[in-house]
Amino acid sequence: MSAHSYNPTAKALHWLMAAIWVTAWLLGVSAVYMREAWNPHHGLTITHKALASTLLFLVVLRVAWRLTHPVPSLPDSMSPVMKRAAGLGHLALYGAALIALPLSGWFWSSVAGKPIMVLGLFQLPPLTAPAKEWYDPAKLAHVTLAWSTGALVLGHVVIALKHHFIDRDGVLRGMLPAAPSGTRLASNRTAKV
Ligand code: HEM
Repeated sequence: MSAHSYNPTAKALHWLMAAIWVTAWLLGVSAVYMREAWNPHHGLTITHKALASTLLFLVVLRVAWRLTHPVPSLPDSMSPVMKRAAGLGHLALYGAALIALPLSGWFWSSVAGKPIMVLGLFQLPPLTAPAKEWYDPAKLAHVTLAWSTGALVLGHVVIALKHHFIDRDGVLRGMLPAAPSGTRLASNRTAKV
């Protein structure tokens, strides 16, 4: 029997990383666009990097868990094309939002010669020696990734809400903490037909 709910570890990693990601995103934007009012001593920038850098470690755990544990099957009501699109969307979230974006921030700080203190506890080693000529390309990469993955994550949220409120197919409930494994989609599908 295939389970219709993610396992507790996958759910914990999903929601923990989602909370960190959104907070880090808002901190990054605030650090840059509210610099004079809120970030005169770079406190927001330091906090942004301290929090966001944890994603570099969590994503290793997350990918390892994802590759070694089954995920719930998508509902039969979704066409093969939609299922394929969902898979590609998830791949993009992993690759761009959880891997490339933090890596680009790490690279940017490295070429700028600025430290990254993970949760304020220890320093990440620089990826490269400081390099002025790489500062602008690194910044461009991080800013571009930050805004494009912001749109990607927003799309992910909108689609999850559509599954829940319009399709009512249990896809979102499969990722909610309280849901029991293996029953929710089935009961929901029954309710729909
Ligand atoms: C190792 C991880 C990361 C490092 C070292 C890092 C570093 C930085 C730095 C130095 C800034 C500029 C802040 C300032 O000028 O005061 C910045 C901006 C930003 N970061 Fe990160 N970042 C990291 C990960 C992330 C992640 C995971 C996200 C998304 C959740 C993110 C989203 C942003 C955003 C939205 C901005 C503002 C971009 C803009 O100028 O419009 N960063 N980051």
